[in-house]
Amino acid sequence: MPRRSLRNNLITERTKTIRYAIRDVVVTAKHLEAKGKKITYLNIGDPIVYDFETPPFLVEAFCDAAKQGHNGYSASAGIPEFREAVVDKEKRINKISIGAADVIATAGISEGIQMMMAALVSPGSEVLVPGPTYPPYLAFVRFFGGTAQTYRCIEEEGWRPDLDDIRAKITENTAAMVLINPNNPTGAVYPSKTVQALVDIAGEFGIPLISDEVYDRLVYDLVPTSTAALAKDVPVIGFNGLSKVYLVPGWRIGYMYFHHPNQDLAELKEHILKQARIRICTNAPAQYAASIGLRESDTYLKDVISRLQDRRDLVWKRLNEIDGISTSKPEGSFYIFPSIDLQNRWSTDEEFVMALLKETGVLVVHGSGFDPVFGSDHFRLVFLAPPPILNSALDAIQKFVES
Ligand SMILES: Cc1ncc(COP(=O)(O)O)c(C=O)c1O
Repeated sequence: MPRRSLRNNLITERTKTIRYAIRDVVVTAKHLEAKGKKITYLNIGDPIVYDFETPPFLVEAFCDAAKQGHNGYSASAGIPEFREAVVDKEKRINKISIGAADVIATAGISEGIQMMMAALVSPGSEVLVPGPTYPPYLAFVRFFGGTAQTYRCIEEEGWRPDLDDIRAKITENTAAMVLINPNNPTGAVYPSKTVQALVDIAGEFGIPLISDEVYDRLVYDLVPTSTAALAKDVPVIGFNGLSKVYLVPGWRIGYMYFHHPNQDLAELKEHILKQARIRICTNAPAQYAASIGLRESDTYLKDVISRLQDRRDLVWKRLNEIDGISTSKPEGSFYIFPSIDLQNRWSTDEEFVMALLKETGVLVVHGSGFDPVFGSDHFRLVFLAPPPILNSALDAIQKFVES
């Protein structure tokens, strides 16, 4: 049979719509790097790219797990040791009462988002997500044919959610409401009364809450309240993982838990478990190591937070000294989300980010990649790099913007 060329329409519209600004911008950076330009990567929230290190006891636990032969497939929902360790950690740190059967191990929260949206979203469904938001919440809702409705987070009020906007955007098609606390990209940490207000709205309208708490312990000024700890009769799905707080993003280990009064989420959990079985399991040695990590001493964190706090203060001060840039102070995570006065120099924040990259080699992410509505005219800078690198990047940004 003669060889046929691929049909033009072979690729689905579904995959054509996928965007992930945080890594999409790297494509241009790599082209420039290949031509000899030095690039300063301040775009990605990987805590071990610069001078932070994975705690050695975790690395040992991972190696031990592999040496002890934990290299086979594991149970699809996760090994019992891991699920128990999550129960213990969530009780100890976040004051949440769940059982091991409520926990499902995932290949990072990212897989959890995908599975959750696959189970909840059909064409016509709407999911409320913060504006701006961590981009996969937008991408996966769209992927499964739904609409991600971003609700406004108010910059002047430390990026706290606008409760009126949320209420106005709830319809009979609203499948779930997402909150991210502490937040990426804004660094906001919500006081417990804000979390309570979100829980109350969800309860009033009968909407499940999805609470992403991956930065739960990376906070500087305010200790966050976990959503499930406040939600008495409102179903909450919690997303968390080891990538950020335990400095092991490459292990791809996370979890979701179902906090469900009256077993309200039992059917949803079954549909997530079906997906867990079809993808077989998550990284087995990582689950064994994480079971130890979640219970072990966390003294390393004090140093991590103190160094991050210095970097937070540095970037916050220096960015606010630049004409045309202003920003609120992040209270958690390792992101800052300044606004930029584009004047007539750049037509969009993306154009600004690309011009900055080409001129200075400093790579940040355009705010519209986190939500075209509430993220535009901003950019996100990751302050994980050591102070000398941050300072020279900020010198370059200042010169570029003020020139
Ligand atoms: C809010 C939020 N959720 C989830 C993730 C992804 O986490 P994981 O590595 O567990 O997939 C990130 C990563 O940046 C994040 O910022």
